[in-house]
Amino acid sequence: MPIRKPRISKVSINFIVFGVFLSCFPGCILSATVTLDSIVIYDTHEFIKGVKPIVYFTCQGENKTVFPDVKEKNVPYEFKGEESWQPLTEFSSKKCKRCGLYEKDTFKSDDKYDEWELCPSDFNSSDGKYVRFKSKEFNATFSCPNCLPAASPDSKSATAAPKEEKKNGWHIALVILIVVVILVACIVGGVLAYKFWQKKKREQDQARFLKLFEDGDDIEEELGLDHEI
Ligand SMILES: *[C@@H]1O[C@H](CO)[C@@H](O)[C@H](O)[C@H]1NC(C)=O
Ligand SMILES: *[C@@H]1O[C@H](CO)[C@@H](O)[C@H](O)[C@H]1NC(C)=O
Repeated sequence: MPIRKPRISKVSINFIVFGVFLSCFPGCILSATVTLDSIVIYDTHEFIKGVKPIVYFTCQGENKTVFPDVKEKNVPYEFKGEESWQPLTEFSSKKCKRCGLYEKDTFKSDDKYDEWELCPSDFNSSDGKYVRFKSKEFNATFSCPNCLPAASPDSKSATAAPKEEKKNGWHIALVILIVVVILVACIVGGVLAYKFWQKKKREQDQARFLKLFEDGDDIEEELGLDHEI
């Protein structure tokens, strides 16, 4: 039967497509934690001498992370990234977050060291680090090793937008490829089914024709007999 073989290959093509689809996921979904490597504060925003600042980091809509050790000006603090208050935040996509460093105040609104858009693509150095420096305020080094695959080395200076577009284009190409493969499989299957049906029909026609021919012979014989009489 010629129809069996194509049916098996159609299934295997679908499996290959599904496999390609699955293997894409680790790259498509980003889950990366951001930790603080080191920090120096140049200002405490405290008017009363001797009052220790409460420095914290937060991203919009997330919990505040207080740095319990950071109390002195011009002293570099180093961290391993495993401290009880780490990590600072987590990226679940390539989207940036509005984050900042602040200094807590009891009697007035908190002082702002800095507030900026923190993006996975900022961690584009080979060791996944990002240095944020603000004159007379602070110098902080953040670390996000898992942000690295998202930030391609060929577009270090580019913003996140074109990268997103590139990824989207790749997704569209994959969807088109899947559609084309399925379409081709359907067409091949359809053509083979039609060929099979045609063959069956031809055989049936042939059988009917032979039967008709035999019947015709009978009639001719009968006619011949009539003529002789
Ligand atoms: C924020 O903190 C609260 C209590 O400390 C906790 O229940 C909650 O899960 C935290 N939310 C996030 C987004 O970490
Ligand atoms: C900020 O800190 C990093 C890491 O400690 C250091 O490499 C860099 O030179 C510092 N930048 C300034 C302007 O102090």
